[in-house]
Parts: sequence; structure tokens; C-alpha cells
Amino acid sequence: MSLAELTVSHLRCIEHAELETSPGLTLIWGDNGSGKTSLLEAMFLLGRGRSFRTRNNERLIQRGKDHLRVIGRIRTTSGEIRTLGFEATPTSTTARIAGRPAQSLAELSNAFPVQVIEPGIHRLVEEGGYRRRRWMDWAVFHVEPLFIDTWVRYTRALKQRNAALKIEAAQAQAFDPELARLGELIAESRHRFVTRLQPYWLDAVAALSGLEVDLHYLRGWGQDQTLLEALTASRARDEARHVTHAGPHRADIAVRIHGRPAREVLSRGQQKLVAVAMTVAQLRLLQDLTQTTPTLLLDDPAAELDGERLQRFIAQVASLRCQLVVTSLHPESRLFGTPERTFHVVQGRVQPV
Ligand SMILES: Nc1ncnc2c1ncn2[C@@H]1O[C@H](COP(=O)(O)OP(=O)(O)O)[C@@H](O)[C@H]1O
Ligand SMILES: [Mg+2]
Repeated sequence: MSLAELTVSHLRCIEHAELETSPGLTLIWGDNGSGKTSLLEAMFLLGRGRSFRTRNNERLIQRGKDHLRVIGRIRTTSGEIRTLGFEATPTSTTARIAGRPAQSLAELSNAFPVQVIEPGIHRLVEEGGYRRRRWMDWAVFHVEPLFIDTWVRYTRALKQRNAALKIEAAQAQAFDPELARLGELIAESRHRFVTRLQPYWLDAVAALSGLEVDLHYLRGWGQDQTLLEALTASRARDEARHVTHAGPHRADIAVRIHGRPAREVLSRGQQKLVAVAMTVAQLRLLQDLTQTTPTLLLDDPAAELDGERLQRFIAQVASLRCQLVVTSLHPESRLFGTPERTFHVVQGRVQPV
């Protein structure tokens, strides 16, 4: 699957832009602040329904405008073209797949699998479990089609249970059997993913960083209990704090080096390599399991990697053989070979070169 065409309106500094991207390598170059990252954000929005720079869609809308719109034409594995649309106003977002509203973000992910490596990627290692859960679930969505439905129903049941905890705590336990059943399924799917990932991970982290970092899956409740037992055991605490403490919404992947949290031991640069390795390993696994290759957006990859690290990074990315869209400050950037298409961005205006 790959992005064939992109149309962007009213996104940050981009008033209007249209570009045809290559199924291989596309280069977007321009000065700082010209709008390169904004174009990658537009592509990411199509497959994810959110930006990788902000959780607040309103910030993406061009100042003085009341909505933004992105349209993408996706070439599917069988060669058909499918149109995806994303629109945001300050208070709403709508994603469309071939003209009809997407049912969930997961459905969008399947319509256009897209991943990004950008200067903030170290946050995958440094910050809380939320990012790692999202990272993991994006992959599980692709590998296990049934996961989407389970995940949506779990999220709904969890919301209802939390609402009950606030209003009438005695009602909350009515949700426990359903929550426990769905939660166990989610945990099993994630566990399968992390287990399958291991050989890819060991390869990628060794090649990229040379560090002995391990990824250890934590499912979100105690080891020797079922989820139903954990929910029962934490009922008093749940009622006191009005939230559900046990369950896959509290899962994490512990990133550890010699038994200690990587975020406490590694430099920012090392964390970045570890996060890149997580992402490369994930993409390889998806390629092997699903025969589709996600599109990879690389935002200014040369900026923070030097010499040998950059060479290792390039070798890993090149071996993925996926659609690549790369930004650079330099028109002659040839890090990933000769681009099939190049665009120059000047103050939000995009010109093919
Ligand atoms: N909501 C907005 N409306 C208009 N301009 C914006 C908005 N948000 C950011 N910008 C401007 O858009 C530009 C964003 O460029 P960016 O895509 O980050 O550039 P690059 O990646 O090429 O350095 C900046 O100049 C910024 O000031
Ligand atoms: Mg940028």
C-alpha cells in the first residue's frame, strides 16, 4: 500500500498544496519553518486521525481559517486507488474512507498504514506507558483483525464502569465479567505481538545501538490473578478513587537495560536509537505477518544522528523497502538513494522539482 497523491488545505502554514508521491522515495526539502513537517503531519493524519506533534487538532488549523482538510489517494496492494479524507474544525474531526465516515481509528489505520520517525521519537522510551500502548496497539490492529472490535468494546465497557464508579459505585461491578473477558483477550493479543517481535527487536536494537536493551511486556494487572480476580481485589480502591485500576488500559512495555529503566540510564541520543529500533522491528514484523508494507515518514533524519549511527540507521531503513517520504534542509539529500520525486517548500508553497 502506498500514498499516491496528497491534497492539503489550511494546515498550519500551508494554504493549499497538491503533490504526487512516489511509491519509492519522495524528498521534501526547504528551509526551517517552510512547512516540511506540516506535510508529513498531513500524511500522518490520513492514516491515524491525529498529528504526531500535538494532541490538539485546533493547533493544526491555519490561523484565521475554520477548518483544515487533507485528501489522500491510496494505492492498495491490488493496485486499486482508494480515497481517504480527513477534516478538522476546532470542535470536530471527520475521517472518510472512500466517501463514508470511518467507524474507528483502527479502521483508518488499516486503510493507510503509516508510521513516522521524527525528532521527538525518544519520547517512546522516555515518557509514560500511553505512547508505548498506542505504539503496540497500532501493530496489533494490523496483525489481528479481531483485535479492533475487542478493543472498541473494552474501551466502551471501561468508560461505563468508570462512570458508574463516579455515580453509583455499587453498579460498577456489573461490568466486571464483560470487562474481564475482553481485557484478557486484549492482553493475549498484545502478548503474542511482543513475543513475535522479540527476534526482530534483538536484531534491530543490536544493529542500531549495540545496546543490550530488553522489552518486557506488562499486561496491566498482577501476574498470578485473572483480570476478574484483580478487578474484585481492587474494588475498594476503585470506589475510593472512582477509576478502574486493573486492566489492559494500564499495560506497558518496560524498556530496560541491565534491569534498569532505559529512560534513567540512556542519553537522549541513545533513547532515540532505541525508539527507532522499536519502530524498525515493528515494521519488519508487520511486513512478514501481513504482506503489507506501511509507509514510513522520516522527518529530518540527519538532524540528530551523526557518522556511524546515521549509516546504521540508513541501512536499517533501506532494508525495509517501503514507501519513504523524507524531509531535508538540503536539495541534494541522497541519504536513502536518489529520490523519484522531489518537492521544494517555500513559505507553505509546494513546488515539484
Ligand atoms: N496554525 C497555524 N497557522 C499558521 N501557521 C502556522 C500554524 N502553526 C504553525 N504555523 C507555522 O507554520 C510553519 C510550520 O512549519 P513546519 O512544517 O514546522 O516547517 P519545517 O518542518 O519546514 O521546519 C512555521 O513557520 C509556523 O510558524
Ligand atoms: Mg520540521
